[in-house]
Amino acid sequence: MKGLKFISTGRAIPEKAVTNDDMSRIVDTSDEWIRTRTGIAQRHFCTRENAASLAVSAARQALERAGISPEEIGVCAAATVTPQYASPANACLIQAALGLAEDTPCFDLSAGCTGFLYGLEVMRGMLTISPKRYALLVGGEELSRVMDMTDRSTCVLFGDGAGAAVLALEENALWAATLGTRGNSDILSVDAVGKGPSYIHMDGQGVYRFAVEVIPHCAKELLNQTGLTLEQVDWIVPHQANRRIVETAAKRLHLGMDKFFLNIDRYGNTSAASIPIALDEMVQEGLLRKGQKVMAIAFGAGLTWGGALFEW
Ligand code: UT7
Repeated sequence: MKGLKFISTGRAIPEKAVTNDDMSRIVDTSDEWIRTRTGIAQRHFCTRENAASLAVSAARQALERAGISPEEIGVCAAATVTPQYASPANACLIQAALGLAEDTPCFDLSAGCTGFLYGLEVMRGMLTISPKRYALLVGGEELSRVMDMTDRSTCVLFGDGAGAAVLALEENALWAATLGTRGNSDILSVDAVGKGPSYIHMDGQGVYRFAVEVIPHCAKELLNQTGLTLEQVDWIVPHQANRRIVETAAKRLHLGMDKFFLNIDRYGNTSAASIPIALDEMVQEGLLRKGQKVMAIAFGAGLTWGGALFEW
């Protein structure tokens, strides 16, 4: 079976960091509540940046680090729930900014916080029919634009940012994936554009219950597909939504927290950007090294879930 290899990664984080104390000046909340319930200490909000500029910056960094020319990209997709425009796609803006060839299919993909993992499978499929070797996949969000700053149960959770990866298809590369959805719009949704302000609506506990169920489900499914054991996996990179969700899922898998990478303290929940930002940070910090086995697992609006198991 052909699997994806990550050739390079990149990320873009808005300059402005917003602390929990900053949030407590906007809504009735506290640093103590946010830290203990979620593990978040700060998040970043766009000021001079926007959804498009973040996606372009992350994509540019990944492309430069891959050391390939824009013409070598055969497909470009951007996973997002907060594109710059409803249309054209963020991926079209990336195509223009980076000078990707005009015959490159460029499109956005909406699967909530699971978007990047849906994107990996879509890129794997697209590369089998592309005459070119590489795919460029971005997860990027400007969630501060859709936050109801009067709703303390949601506005303290999310942040802005983008992550990107250049991917290639390789014969015999370790690869397993699982994707799904419950077709649910009651528990978590973002309003459509054009009907007044667009906000995130969420039943936090509903998402919580779903997340602690699907993380172990995805992990087991990926292990079944590959015949690997959890001990043979070096890293689990979960969607960064809530530290407690990850701790509960770890317990259900009879694992300690040392295999789980967490950076939610610094970025909050960046939806489709959370997994690629985490991967990029891990590489840049020297944590994620060639040959290591990685499990990435996400869940989000839809209620969608996704997992991928691959070798770095
Ligand atoms: O990418 C997926 C996106 N979504 C998620 O990942 C969300 C998953 N869910 C969660 O992370 C948690 O459910 C939350 C962090 C959203 C909430 O934590 P919780 O432990 O489930 O709290 P709760 O909703 O049961 O609320 C407990 C109390 C309530 O007060 P009362 O009714 O007990 O008086 C809330 O009004 O906490 C109150 N509360 C807050 N207090 C201070 C809710 N938000 C806040 C806040 N600051 N920001």
